[in-house]
Amino acid sequence: MTEKTTISVIKADVGGWPGHSNVHPRLKEEAKKMLTEGLKKGTIIDFCVAHCGDDLELIMGHKNGIDSEKVHSLAWSVFERTTEIAKELKLYGAGQDMLKDAFSGNIRGMGPGIAELEFTERKSEPFVVFMMDKTEPGAFNLPMYRIFADPFNTAGLIIDPNIHDGFVFEIWDIFEHKKVLMSCPEEMYDILALIGAKSRFVIKRVWPKEGKLPVDEAVASVSTEKLFQIAGEYVGKDDPVAVVRAQSGLPALGEILEPFAFPHLVSGWMRGSHNGPLMPVAQKNATCTRFDGPPRVVALGFQINDAKLGEPVDLFDDVAFDHARKKAQEIADYMRRHGPFEPHRLPLADMEYTTLPKVLKKLEKRFEVV
Ligand code: 13P
Ligand code: 13P
Ligand code: MG
Ligand code: MG
Repeated sequence: MTEKTTISVIKADVGGWPGHSNVHPRLKEEAKKMLTEGLKKGTIIDFCVAHCGDDLELIMGHKNGIDSEKVHSLAWSVFERTTEIAKELKLYGAGQDMLKDAFSGNIRGMGPGIAELEFTERKSEPFVVFMMDKTEPGAFNLPMYRIFADPFNTAGLIIDPNIHDGFVFEIWDIFEHKKVLMSCPEEMYDILALIGAKSRFVIKRVWPKEGKLPVDEAVASVSTEKLFQIAGEYVGKDDPVAVVRAQSGLPALGEILEPFAFPHLVSGWMRGSHNGPLMPVAQKNATCTRFDGPPRVVALGFQINDAKLGEPVDLFDDVAFDHARKKAQEIADYMRRHGPFEPHRLPLADMEYTTLPKVLKKLEKRFEVV
């Protein structure tokens, strides 16, 4: 146990209801029951169970640090048990993200997505948990860049002396399994050169610079698990989650939400193979319907107190995001009319793990040299 607080967001698709649209209430009930047990045992201090589309989301506050075996094993057992229930109920794709069987100390690399932050609680500690469905980790690149690097989004980068020096971005090359720390604004153009290629380079964490906050405590974290790398084939998209801390020495809550007023194009949607707009929605509207989408993002806001999360505020449940939702639907209409054509359908490189190689294989002998 440390004095520091840890927020762990761990999520998995253990079965959809119906299809890939939503999470069955019984799965959420069971998760709450099991996390209440974890709470009684002192493994965690508080929790919130949520969903985005067909992804079951466990948000936990505790003092066991990042990569805690106790916390990860609790989450894993929740997903194991809810997978059993999903099988009993014949839910769709039961156990979809449960790619390994035996838990051996850490849930990373086993299928579920993880975003964790460990930090010294400030006098007041607001943070936001973002949950996306029908997309991939790179979908966070644009909003994270806007929040922590773009003065047209975050007024504080200009106005607030505490964040005027900018932030450090930890960027992962998820194909080569390498990472690099880059300083912004100094290396802004190089950062953009990487993170614009969002299927390969993803923002994993954001770190503060020397100043108001400890430099060794990250202020934002994104789940970057790639399912096809674990499974060796397409088994659903790596619907990501993120945690972002807010205010005093960090972007304000409203600066963290502002990028989502623009429904940017992300890859995912139907069969994980299409580009479409990311629509910000309330928890009650986090059901992926049209063409299994469009891709959605839910934001829950907390005001943590000694690792107690308290009640969440459903931040996109607000008329201020109506325009973004309407725009997203216009873009969805426009993109859908391309049917199987790029750029609605993903480019070849991103289709590698679908049926396309099989089509090519079948035609192999019929191709003639021109
Ligand atoms: P802080 O109090 O976190 O500095 O935020 C300033 C503000 O008013 C944001 O809108
Ligand atoms: P999920 O990754 O959310 O399970 O969606 C898979 C899919 O194929 C949707 O069409
Ligand atoms: Mg699914
Ligand atoms: Mg999903």
